[in-house]
Parts: sequence; C-alpha cells; structure tokens
Amino acid sequence: MGRTLAELAAQAEKNAPSQKDNPWRLRFHLEPPVGWLNDPNGLSYFGGAVHVFYQYAPFEVNGGLKQWGHFRSKDLVSWERLPIMLFSDEPYDVHGAYSGSAVPEADGLYMFYTGNVKMQGSDYDYVLTGREQNTVLAYSEDGIHVDSKTLLMTNDDYPEDMTRHVRDPKVFPYDGKYYMVLGARTKQNVGKVLVYESADKMHWKLCNVLQTETPLGYMWECPDLFEIDGQWFLVISPQGVERTGPGHENEYTCGCMPLNGDFRGEYTLGEFQPLDFGFDFYAAQSFSAPRFGGGQRRLLIGWMGMPDADYTNPTVNFGYQHCMTVLREVTRSGDRMLLNPVSELEDMRILDRTEVFSDGFSAEIPAACEIELEANGDVEIDISGMTFSVENSLAIMRIMEGGYGRTRRSAPVSDPARMRILVDTSAVEIFMDEGHTVFCVRWYPEGWTRTLRIKGGGQLRLYAMPHCADLDFTE
Ligand code: FRU
Repeated sequence: MGRTLAELAAQAEKNAPSQKDNPWRLRFHLEPPVGWLNDPNGLSYFGGAVHVFYQYAPFEVNGGLKQWGHFRSKDLVSWERLPIMLFSDEPYDVHGAYSGSAVPEADGLYMFYTGNVKMQGSDYDYVLTGREQNTVLAYSEDGIHVDSKTLLMTNDDYPEDMTRHVRDPKVFPYDGKYYMVLGARTKQNVGKVLVYESADKMHWKLCNVLQTETPLGYMWECPDLFEIDGQWFLVISPQGVERTGPGHENEYTCGCMPLNGDFRGEYTLGEFQPLDFGFDFYAAQSFSAPRFGGGQRRLLIGWMGMPDADYTNPTVNFGYQHCMTVLREVTRSGDRMLLNPVSELEDMRILDRTEVFSDGFSAEIPAACEIELEANGDVEIDISGMTFSVENSLAIMRIMEGGYGRTRRSAPVSDPARMRILVDTSAVEIFMDEGHTVFCVRWYPEGWTRTLRIKGGGQLRLYAMPHCADLDFTE
C-alpha cells in the first residue's frame, strides 16, 4: 500500500534543510517548517485555544498540493504547531484542500473548505472547463483530528453564470441560521460573492449575490463578512484590479467595503478600502475571539505574501517560504475599518530603551523588535534597506536592498507623526493613523544584525520582542 499523505508530510518535515545559517527565520510570526504557506484558514476559538489553520504545501516550496496546517495558542503569545488537520485525500478534494473557515460549536469544530480538482488534459482552459471546486464540510470533535467529511455542493449547484472558479467558503452563525459567503468569478469575468443560507450546516440555499456597481477585478477570493459595532463589512481579495496610484498599487489586493442594508436582500457597498498598502498582504480572514479578561473582539490575519507576484523570497533556499501577519484587532471609525496589533503583543514586548532622535540617528536594533515612534515632522526611517518615509502626508515604502523584486508602495496618511513598527528579522508591519494605514513587507537583509537610521527628529521607544520557542526551527 502507498504511504499516506500524513506519512509523506512527516517525512518532508523531517528532511527539511538545516536552518542554522538562516538569518530570516521569524521569531514571532507564524511560518511553515518546510514547503509553502498561503492563506489563513479556519480561524477560530475552540476548546480554550485560538486555532490558526493555513494553506500548507509541505512537498513543494513553490506551492503544489495544499493541506490545512495547524497552529494553536492559548494566550496569543506562545504558539504550538500541531499535525496537519485536513488532508486532500478524497476524490472531491484530490488536488488540494483549499481555503475555508471554521465554526466552533459545543460538540466540535465544523470546517468548510473548497475541494479542488484539476483535470489532466490539453483541452481545458481551467476557467470554464477542467476544474472542480467543491464545497466540503469536515467535522472534528477534538479540534485536532478530522472525524468525517461531507460533500455539500459541487459546481453544478452554483448559479449558471459562474465559471469553475467558486471557492473559499466563510461560514458564520447569524440570526438563528448559518450563512456562507463564497468567492466567485462570473462568465463575464467579474468578481462577486455568493451568499448561501442554511438551518443545519448541511443543506444550503443561495440567498443573494454581492457585487459592486462597477466591476472590481475578475475574481473575488477569500470573502469574509462581519459586523463591527453595528456596521457590516465585506472583506475580499480581488484579482485583476486596476492600479490607480497611491493607495491602490497592487493588482491583486485585499480590502473591505462597508455594507449597508441587509446582506440577504437589499444592500449597498461603499468604497473599497485596502486593508494594507504594502507588498505582501492577501487573503485576510477574521474571527471572533474572547478578550482574555472579558468580552469579545474581532481578530484578523492576512497571508504575508501575494499570488503570482513578480518578487520572490530567498528562503526557498532553506526549503520554505511565506508567513502570516501578526493577529490584528479589528475596530472601526465610522465606516472605515481599523487594524492594530493584538494587545497581547504589547504585553510580550520588553522595553529596551527610550531615545530622543535627531537627523542622522543610527543604532543597531534587535532582529525582532518593536519601534514606537513619534516624529516632529516629515521623517524617513531606514531599517537595513527597508526605507519608510512620510512626506507631505504621503507614506512611501521603498525597498532599497534585499527586496528581491519589491520596489515601492505608497498611500496617503492623515496623522504622519505616530507609528508602530514591528520588525521580525525579514518581515515588517507598520501601523499608523490609529490603524487606518498599515503597510507590511518581507525583505531580506544580509547578515544577522539590523540597523535603524533616521532622518528627522522626534522620540522613540524600542522594545525587544521575545522568541516564540515552539516556532523555533533553527535546531
Ligand atoms: C488565495 C487562494 C484561494 C484558494 C487558495 C489555494 O490565495 O487562491 O482562493 O482557496 O489560495 O491555496
């Protein structure tokens, strides 16, 4: 008998190249032990822990056969890596257990995902033919092992004018029922979201289609729909968006639109707002989590990567690539969504020093740190080749060295003075404007030291970020 996917994956992890000489392994961001990582999946609070599943291809560093990898945390400070949760081991998901979501219930974790099937042959265009994208439910009683899988819908069940690209179910309970949003590409090459309704999580009926008045890209991937203090937001990752200048410089992007009215009936969608203006942010997913100490909060993670990008990651030489962003807490100001680092990250940082800086400031900084900065005016920060400046209310990220194809991104800012900069060896996330303006990027400086240089004046606090030991792959 052939070896199972579980055995093959365990073997691939065991054979991972040594990471001893790798200066880019991350200290507090989630990344795979070997192979390829993309979208966050099945984000949920279940059994007293937060679960982050992810698109994981352990067999090939450039993608390939996707499974659901698994990280878990009880405190959002330390993380453990668990065995793969979902394998692509059925005829209806044989070419990948693609993205999806999880609904935690008293009796177990219900995971909805896309079973990907790609036919072999030269006659297929893989848009109208040659592909199946099945909606599947996987049930797990313990949140670690899958007990059963049920095929819920096939391409024949989706509306007539959809191509074969319909995927990434996000399911949530609301108003005594369950709703599912599915990303879709129509035969006219317009991105839309299908909304399904169910009373029992097993039987689904189309209840609406969400779309913009003028098309925004040809495909909407990874939709999410949720309410923050009475305001609904639709999150999508559209493909094929026109680049119109500062704030809209990615052809594949990830952002939200405020939704007014009823997503099940009459509704309007407001202006599209990218959730991150950097190079590497896609397929964001959110979930509702307890605030330890009382209440609920909405947390969101993005894949810190970009499909079909022309830039690359030298970590492939160490047998893996890509990571997640940190958990970001979602709040709002009017109908604008705000993203800020989850508060647990503040609790884990250790104050290293406070500095008043002026033009020409330079200091070696820990490879994993946070810089909290308040500038007196226009400012330019350089961290080992990643330059971030604020000039006339425009924030500009330039990758001067180690970008591997990444060059420049920009977006307007209204409060240029204050920023929080999370640095993690080869990943940076910058939060400004109370969370209105966020930039993230991967860049790969040579060597183990990181140097901060600043033009401009102001003050900063530097914090060291601790190393999450369970994510340490350097041994
Ligand atoms: C987005 C995406 C999803 C799909 C998954 C496959 O990055 O293309 O639409 O389910 O990745 O890994």
